[in-house]
Amino acid sequence: MKVALTGTPGTGKSSISGILSKKYKVIHLGDITEARVEYDDTRDSYVVDTDMLRNKVDGIKDEEIIIVEGHYAHDMAVDMVIVLRCHPDVLKNRLEKRGYKASKIRENMEAEAMGIIVDEALGRYPENKVYEVDTSKINPEEGAAIVEKIINGRGEEYLKRISYMEEILKWY
Ligand SMILES: Nc1ncnc2c1ncn2[C@@H]1O[C@H](COP(=O)(O)OP(=O)(O)OP(=O)(O)O)[C@@H](O)[C@H]1O
Ligand SMILES: [Mg+2]
Repeated sequence: MKVALTGTPGTGKSSISGILSKKYKVIHLGDITEARVEYDDTRDSYVVDTDMLRNKVDGIKDEEIIIVEGHYAHDMAVDMVIVLRCHPDVLKNRLEKRGYKASKIRENMEAEAMGIIVDEALGRYPENKVYEVDTSKINPEEGAAIVEKIINGRGEEYLKRISYMEEILKWY
């Protein structure tokens, strides 16, 4: 079974998958450097060939539980999608600590507030396969425990939709 662990940058994919890697096989999409097409200077990030990533992921046998981690993970062929969410103000703090430039922080806060990744995931997968976990008020260990619960089929409550849309109104 393949599980996509996706979310806006800073929502906690690496932290949580790092903890879960003690127990499960984890594929970090960001480590597949061959899929990088070019560096986008204005956005400070790589443009990635998602078709190539999809082929790579398809080629991995999935008789065991495999966590596919990265903000393109919901674009892969998987059995369930777990979207990590974060309150935009908390995300801002996390990205500031990374030293991201203001425009990149803003772009990610907006993407998170608009729920872009969940929207994309729901465009590709049915409602009952797309879970959301809010990491704003918990620590990575707690987040990992929730993700594990979902993987084990006991995460019904995380099918509930999370919205930070109204946060946007406070910015104008
Ligand atoms: N509940 C939580 N789950 C995950 N991370 C958390 C949580 N609470 C706080 N954090 C912190 O938030 C940050 C998340 O960064 P992380 O690198 O894991 O995000 P990411 O989603 O992998 O980002 P990127 O897409 O840029 O790789 C870390 O500094 C982590 O310690
Ligand atoms: Mg990461």
